[in-house]
Amino acid sequence: MRILFLDQSGKPGGAELCLLDIASQYGDRPLIGLFADGPFRALLEQHRVPVRVLAERAINVNKGSNLLQGLSSITQVVPLISQVVQLSRQYDAIYANTQKALVVGAIASGLSQRPLVYHLHDIVSPDHFSSINRRLIVGLANQFASCVIANSQASATAFIAAGGRAELVEVVYNGFNAALYQHHRAAATALRHALGLGDRLVIGHFSRLSPWKGQHVLIDALSHCSPNVVALFVGDALFGEEAYADQLRQQVAALGLGDRVHFLGFRDDIPQLMTLCDLVAHTSTAPEPFGRVIVEAMLCGTPVVAAAAGGVMELVEPGQTGWLTPPSDADALAQVIQTVQAQPEQTRAIAHHAQMVAAQRFELSHTNAQIDRIMQQLVPQQQQQPALQQ
Ligand code: UDP
Ligand code: GLC
Repeated sequence: MRILFLDQSGKPGGAELCLLDIASQYGDRPLIGLFADGPFRALLEQHRVPVRVLAERAINVNKGSNLLQGLSSITQVVPLISQVVQLSRQYDAIYANTQKALVVGAIASGLSQRPLVYHLHDIVSPDHFSSINRRLIVGLANQFASCVIANSQASATAFIAAGGRAELVEVVYNGFNAALYQHHRAAATALRHALGLGDRLVIGHFSRLSPWKGQHVLIDALSHCSPNVVALFVGDALFGEEAYADQLRQQVAALGLGDRVHFLGFRDDIPQLMTLCDLVAHTSTAPEPFGRVIVEAMLCGTPVVAAAAGGVMELVEPGQTGWLTPPSDADALAQVIQTVQAQPEQTRAIAHHAQMVAAQRFELSHTNAQIDRIMQQLVPQQQQQPALQQ
């Protein structure tokens, strides 16, 4: 099976980290075509996954773009499509991992007669997409995709509600190698020391800095907590959201929380950092399609509180594997933080239970087997191309 994976981003967001795990199972047979260069290419190379950057400049359309802005990027899109058409003839299937990859992949699939799979990592709703983009995603997927892999039931439901064909959709959760998240206690203790956190209650937030990820909600909640509660923000403004990063720093200064908030930027030692936290908070203000950080916190054995919307409802069972709070509700979040502080025994039991449940439910080998089954059904063995001579 030779798959041409397409992704618009050069940066490692959750959709890209999920793709890395999926593509890795195919060794050196697939190709990942990126529409922008960046650290994601380096990460793929590090994992020996064949990668090629297909566009000289990142394409200029974002989730909220209107039709005019979309059309203005045609001069960039046409050469990209022609490259993808040529390339796809050497592969058995095209696998689009992002929205712009869907646009390019759909046209290329029509021209090269290769089946198209669309991995839907988004909730196709007005919270996240303009009306034109919603119609574009659903229209292209309906017409060109042989399968839409949704990262949660919530993403599947939103796609169908927006007009997507239900019979195309298969829900496949992100998978994780649980072993990578265990046994980091010693490194976590050293990090805690290095960051000067002492025995304070540390709330971790792991996400790119972006308004809908709601870092501001945790800062607000912190101002309602006792002074021995501190917050670590891990993540950077990946997709041009620097203004929000500035806004967060201003909020911290205005609330006088300078000595209780640490911004660590993008890190690649997530398991160690999550292990040092007493609680991981997820605070998205719009429905989260899946929420890798929630599962990762569980796998580390760290208690987690998450915003109750979207795919999160499928990940957290309140009181059993974590806590849920209404999105944007800083008071409710502060209350959970106080509960965690006041009830360490119960909190430990919940985190321990969540760790066991998450390791079973989100096992990477299971996810990869589901994806491979979908791909093998699409391109039966006898139709698959032999491996290319390198
Ligand atoms: N992440 C990371 N370094 C950071 C912040 C986040 O590697 O500094 C990872 C995090 O561990 C998770 C992913 O980025 O695997 C974010 O995925 P998620 O599904 O939570 O959110 P997304 O950003 O994709 O919407
Ligand atoms: C997207 C979503 C996130 C999800 C990730 C992996 O980036 O925003 O919720 O966890 O894809 O599917």
